[in-house]
Amino acid sequence: MLLKIRKTRSKDLKQLNQLNKELQLQMQKFRIKKLSKKQLEHKKFGKKELKKVFTAEMDGALVGFASFNPNALNNEWCGKCIELEEIYIKPKFSGKKVGKKLLEKVAQEAKKKKANIRLMMSPKNKKALKFYEKQGFETVGFEMVLSLKKRLKK
Ligand SMILES: CC(C)(COP(=O)(O)OP(=O)(O)OC[C@H]1O[C@@H](n2cnc3c(N)ncnc32)[C@H](O)[C@@H]1OP(=O)(O)O)[C@@H](O)C(=O)NCCC(=O)NCCS
Repeated sequence: MLLKIRKTRSKDLKQLNQLNKELQLQMQKFRIKKLSKKQLEHKKFGKKELKKVFTAEMDGALVGFASFNPNALNNEWCGKCIELEEIYIKPKFSGKKVGKKLLEKVAQEAKKKKANIRLMMSPKNKKALKFYEKQGFETVGFEMVLSLKKRLKK
């Protein structure tokens, strides 16, 4: 199978948004507050975002993507960083180093800007945590949330 990691084109948008939808639905189980249909719709990629998405194509079909915010911002925890926003590989193609290769592409972008890469994730997403640790990411903090709804139920 021929794998290509490449920039995203306008004609990829339909497939890309299908992959993004799959990812967002998978991530719903980790969220305290589920995204509404409207919010999910809002997360769709448009033409303007193509420059910040790398795509994995296998035998002509998209099997994964990684999106990032290329604006390198200074962060008090990790210095100058670009942000990895989303990474997703279709389950059928997981474990074939596609995620690793997509991340390498984002790392090249970070290198150009002399920046590190940061990301936000749920600690409940154990598979992703293992993947990131394997790639050399370290945990520098947690975002904690007290759900008022759950608290009021007590
Ligand atoms: C997490 C994800 C991006 C990993 O991509 P992938 O293509 O399956 O991973 P790769 O095949 O590139 O694996 C790269 C390395 O990570 C390791 N790894 C990947 N998943 C792992 C797991 N569940 N447990 C342990 N190690 C894992 C691999 O063993 C490999 O190590 P190696 O290079 O030493 O052999 C992919 O599984 C995915 O899309 N998950 C669902 C969406 C998601 O959770 N995204 C992240 C949101 S924060």
